[in-house]
Amino acid sequence: MSSNLFRGAYPNTRPRRLRAHDFSRRLMRENQLTTDDLILPLFVIEGRGETQKVASMPGVERLTVDLLAQKAVELVNLGIPAVALFPVVDAAHKSDDARAAFDADGLAQRAVRALKDAAPELGVITDVALDPFTSHGQDGLMDERGYIVNDDTVEVLVQQALSHAAAGADVVAPSDMMDGRIGAIRTALEREGHVNTQIMSYAAKYASAYYGPFRDALGTAGNLKGANKASYQMDPANSDEALHECAQDLQEGADMIMVKPGMPYLDVVRRVKEELRVPTFAYQVSGEYAMHCAAFENGWLNREAVILESLLGFKRAGSDGVLTYFAEEAARLLQR
Ligand code: PBG
Repeated sequence: MSSNLFRGAYPNTRPRRLRAHDFSRRLMRENQLTTDDLILPLFVIEGRGETQKVASMPGVERLTVDLLAQKAVELVNLGIPAVALFPVVDAAHKSDDARAAFDADGLAQRAVRALKDAAPELGVITDVALDPFTSHGQDGLMDERGYIVNDDTVEVLVQQALSHAAAGADVVAPSDMMDGRIGAIRTALEREGHVNTQIMSYAAKYASAYYGPFRDALGTAGNLKGANKASYQMDPANSDEALHECAQDLQEGADMIMVKPGMPYLDVVRRVKEELRVPTFAYQVSGEYAMHCAAFENGWLNREAVILESLLGFKRAGSDGVLTYFAEEAARLLQR
């Protein structure tokens, strides 16, 4: 509030009056973070009974399918509504045409089935993009000049999304940023009878340097060819473009949209929510997680308070929910 508003009004108006007691702070509270807002991203690996730490994401572990199923039950008990699944694919299954992406018996597809078997009530969101499956780590197919070709990539994405839906995914989440993929996926899902498979579009996904630790987690950082993903992900300087992308994806059939990364882009969340008024999610990405953890480990920030404050910021900005690697911990904190 501008100080002009209060000049002359004081002492009639004392904003601190409402902050003086816990009861009235609770009554005045405009936004609330609950466990219902949280989506946990999970990394799945081949094997049995094994976990792997991710060096740049302290506390995050890749899990084999059997352990993932156990985790699903814990998450349901904590009240977390959904998980976002990311497969860590062996080099042997990477290729230039990314054909492993739509293998009915691929790691992601098996993981979806195991999750739905173990905890049917837990929402399962799958990542639709080719980066785990391409030998070059880009999200789409590459031509001889190194350009990521749009329409041929969309055809593979459609196959991938269909294979996820067939495995039982509740929500497919295209994170690839190809043009037209939402419409193509929606049409194919309808045609194949998956009328209630939801689409959460990573509509405003920026070409961000905050994804570094995620690429470590997936093992795609080392082999990423092509300087960056700027020919398909959005320029961090833009926000009108985000509205345009979101509107287009909604028109094509997206049920929900996502802004990513999160904290440096809360202005985009606010604009999208205010102007489009649709279910809006944001992703507190790996780099945001890593920098928080670094500060916690140094004793520079109070872990529990900052986790909850950072997530509340997403709610205040207008997010209906947040994808966050802190989801499980935040849910435990919210139980207290
Ligand atoms: C790729 C994908 C990325 C993330 C989710 N899906 C990385 C990228 O675009 O290179 C990043 C998530 C994170 O950093 O936590 N399809």
